[in-house]
Amino acid sequence: MEKLIIGDDLGRALSQELNLPFVSVEGRVFADGEIQPRLEKEEKAQEVILIIQKKQKEDINAYLIKYFLLLRKIKEFAEKTIAIMPYLPYARQDSIFREGEPLSSLYIAELIEENADIFITCNMHEHRKKIGDLFKIPAYNIFVFEDMAEKFKDFLPSDSVVIGPDEEAKAFVDNFCKNFLAAKIVIKKTRDFKTGKINFIYPEKMAERLKEKDVIIVDDIISTGNTILETAQAIKTFQPKTISFAFVHSIFGDKAIDQLAVVNPKKIVFTNTLENSYYTVDIVKSFARNLLEKKII
Ligand code: R5P
Repeated sequence: MEKLIIGDDLGRALSQELNLPFVSVEGRVFADGEIQPRLEKEEKAQEVILIIQKKQKEDINAYLIKYFLLLRKIKEFAEKTIAIMPYLPYARQDSIFREGEPLSSLYIAELIEENADIFITCNMHEHRKKIGDLFKIPAYNIFVFEDMAEKFKDFLPSDSVVIGPDEEAKAFVDNFCKNFLAAKIVIKKTRDFKTGKINFIYPEKMAERLKEKDVIIVDDIISTGNTILETAQAIKTFQPKTISFAFVHSIFGDKAIDQLAVVNPKKIVFTNTLENSYYTVDIVKSFARNLLEKKII
């Protein structure tokens, strides 16, 4: 067999998009926490694409071990492996903040490239390190804000303002506005390291620029939800008409989304890079498109 996709429900969907054969992964967790994934059947293939999504109740480290075990298993029979991790864990540990810490993002990349030939992820957190700084194998960081902007087709770009909550979010705002020509604002975020309190520094004329506008706050990750919620609460004081959110990865799944209700959002758009029940942008379509457009397969 030439090409084969191995994975979970995302893998099955990708195989349908690309019209390629599919083998699913099943597995069990033993009482002591050890993980034993298993390929439903062993098929020899020249090129294998492995895609697995982290499940809501799954521990992030258990997900990583499962992924590594499968990559290593596939190496036994495939000539080439394309590893797709919709969300790359540990990418935020991209610097040594205190002496003695491991540079975890780099070490995780090293473990992946030990057993893969190509790596693909989606909106990896690229604050201090770009994907090419971590991986020596060809690696692709697929941006999906452009796809998320499609979900705002019922908004008038001329009445809308797309806001990034910190300077790193400028790239997200630009990608979102590629075909959605709204006004853009990037806020500067500082954090008091003692109290943890976030402080925002705004560009000029915020009140004038936001009053009665449809505001869309965009970010790559929501984890505790504090950044995006505090941004929304601060933005509310400028009296916009509506507030919406667009973000890629919802680390705490449904729980993180539920808490956004306090600011009465008009729309919340996000993906299924991590398992959740409410996603509106299916990442599989972006992966399929990019695999073909970038001639990876
Ligand atoms: C920060 O640099 C990221 O882009 C996100 O803003 C951050 O990870 C969100 O985390 P939380 O939801 O815990 O505030």
